[in-house]
Amino acid sequence: PPADIGLIGLAVMGQNLILNMADHGYTVAVYNRTSSKVDDFIASAKASEPSAGRLVGCKSLKKFVSSIKRPRKIVLLVKAGWATDATIESVVPYLEKGDIIIDGGNALWTDTIRREQELTAKGLRFIGSGVSGGETGARFGPSLMPGGSKEAWKELEPIWKAISAKVDRKTGRPIEVDTPGQVAKGGEPCTVHIGENGAGHYVKMVHNGIEYIDMQLICEAYMLMKNLLGMKPDAMSEVFAGWNEGDLDSYLIEITADILQQKDPMNKRRFLVDSVLDTAGQKGTGKWTSTSALDLGIPANAIAEAVFARCLSAIKEERVSASKQLRGPKAPRLPMSKAKAIEAIREALYCSKICAYAQGFQLMAEAAREYDWKLDFGKIAKIFRGGCIIRARFLQKITEAYKADRRLQNLMLDPYFKKALHGGQGNWRSVVTMATNAGVPIPAFSSALAYFDGYRTAVLPANLLQAQRDYFGAHTFERTDKPRGQFFHVDWPEPGRPISKS
Ligand code: 6PG
Repeated sequence: PPADIGLIGLAVMGQNLILNMADHGYTVAVYNRTSSKVDDFIASAKASEPSAGRLVGCKSLKKFVSSIKRPRKIVLLVKAGWATDATIESVVPYLEKGDIIIDGGNALWTDTIRREQELTAKGLRFIGSGVSGGETGARFGPSLMPGGSKEAWKELEPIWKAISAKVDRKTGRPIEVDTPGQVAKGGEPCTVHIGENGAGHYVKMVHNGIEYIDMQLICEAYMLMKNLLGMKPDAMSEVFAGWNEGDLDSYLIEITADILQQKDPMNKRRFLVDSVLDTAGQKGTGKWTSTSALDLGIPANAIAEAVFARCLSAIKEERVSASKQLRGPKAPRLPMSKAKAIEAIREALYCSKICAYAQGFQLMAEAAREYDWKLDFGKIAKIFRGGCIIRARFLQKITEAYKADRRLQNLMLDPYFKKALHGGQGNWRSVVTMATNAGVPIPAFSSALAYFDGYRTAVLPANLLQAQRDYFGAHTFERTDKPRGQFFHVDWPEPGRPISKS
């Protein structure tokens, strides 16, 4: 029988998405540039996958394309960037009007806009879809963020809804699926049409920016417990597992608890985390989020800080050398009990997390204005509740916040989050103070706090800044006692000469 959909790219994400589609009853044509991979994949699927009968292995692009029902739907899961362009170029000659290419990679949204334009000119359709959830998500239910024309989405919608993660309609909690052949019954699918052209990939990019800061915040909590409280990984694992029962309940907290109790397979007396080198990698989505925030003038400082924290971690040799030359403060006494400090760190983490999401959503709001997308933040928060890396109980609260006020200016202003910030700020400040006094770097905690304090400050020192700009460059300034939009300039004296009293 002709395939319902085709997929190019047999790295692990591609393989798992194929098996997920097959489990949901779809026949999937499979192609990879190195064709031995196709054989290997089909053979291993036959050995262990209940839905292997629904896979159609194809050795040539011609056979691949001709084995798919029209209008064809072809998913690409290849490396973002030039490999995506090369794959599109290779498959296009076989396609016919109305066929749809779906890019599931972490593409830069401006590339997605360009690709859609190029393919539209050829009578083809294009969907740039964020796919989040790593390998397991792809296999058993990712969060899917498709962008593109509505009518192209209509064609893809049934499949995307079937394979996406599902959350319980009442509680908003993810429905667990973890066995090949198993499918979730009922539940709300974690996918929605995000918007035109590059909107899906933009939202996926911001998801990743939030993922960066979420991870960095957890790492800072870990560092505080390790360096200030002298805790061992297994003890910290218990703390994280406990946090996972409350407001912080999330995938990233859960895996952190798991990671911290993992013993080193090469040295069973040690914990693995103590053997892992402290240099972070990154593939660019967090950087893109921060660049976009700078381009759009949105103060996503905590998200950018998480990227810089990775950069700082990467210059390991320099840090090791500097650690022998630059001295920090003498370790002060802990101003509170260990139990109190752990609770303070939990609250600092929660408050910082609220700021981080506030920044991500503010950024998306500005991008929607700039690129003319109609983003629905309630729906975006909803599809983040399951499948994706940042899935968390907390996202139900964000969903509710946008449900109560579609135009909410900033997440921090929602009554629930406002209350959490008001209640938690005492501990948050104590943690930042403690860390600062002890010389423990917590850039994400402290930049989130600076964002909170900056955002709630009616008068910032930018009055002086504007005067400075006017002084040295005649850049003009607005006045507090005149309407906005009227600009003034003063004839400043030469530097160093006092201004005459008159
Ligand atoms: C996801 C992830 C994923 C991303 C990795 C790696 O949502 O499943 O965001 O798409 O590629 O997390 O990102 P870095 O290598 O930049 O950390």
